[in-house]
Amino acid sequence: MHKIAVLAVGPGSPEYLPPAVVGKVKECDLLVGGKRNLALFDLQGREKIEIKGKLDPVLAEIKREMVNRKIGILVSGDTGIYSILPRLVREFGRAALDVYPGISAVQYMFARLGLCWQDARYLSLHGRKLDGLAAEVEGEGIVALFTDKKHSPAVVCRTLAEAGLKDKKVYIGEDLSYPTEKISEGRAEDFTAHSGSDLNLVVICSE
Ligand SMILES: C[S@@+](CC[C@H](N)C(=O)[O-])C[C@H]1O[C@@H](n2cnc3c(N)ncnc32)[C@H](O)[C@@H]1O
Repeated sequence: MHKIAVLAVGPGSPEYLPPAVVGKVKECDLLVGGKRNLALFDLQGREKIEIKGKLDPVLAEIKREMVNRKIGILVSGDTGIYSILPRLVREFGRAALDVYPGISAVQYMFARLGLCWQDARYLSLHGRKLDGLAAEVEGEGIVALFTDKKHSPAVVCRTLAEAGLKDKKVYIGEDLSYPTEKISEGRAEDFTAHSGSDLNLVVICSE
């Protein structure tokens, strides 16, 4: 039985794709991933499964196929933060996986800001309610938020402003590493009507 390669592709631009991952992709005979991650490679004539919605049927197919085939699962950013790695470990066990790291969107964003990420806290808003958000960010320190369509930077900033945190420093990183990249800096009150890319990361700090 082949190990399943879990391959982190970085924030999205080919320039930030790890060479080790490029090499592994060449070795695989079935690639699995979201549209944005698959699009990083020339996969013409190669077998692939696009993850579109529910993961269960995809995992069932991987289970069937892993007996005979070298499978690579593409993961955005790094595998170590808000990725499907924990789900894969539950499903297949760590010994069945060969995990390759990448540059997280958060690492990339902090580098662009010239800030360290060692003391930051990270929250994912995917499928979450914003009830506790103000309490999570009101103190000192830096918090990075992985957003989704529903929890846009504008919704986040309105939530902060309504909780009396309109002066919080906010950075919004959109389409990081792509030619359309845009990083904005201001206070929460400046972004309550912000509209921009759905692919974004919000960093909130107190200074
Ligand atoms: C499911 S999380 C995956 C995080 C990933 N494991 C990482 O290390 O970056 C997806 C979220 O990461 C953020 N993200 C990923 N790539 C991004 C990019 N190129 N620009 C801005 N935000 C990005 C967005 O908040 C997106 O909703």
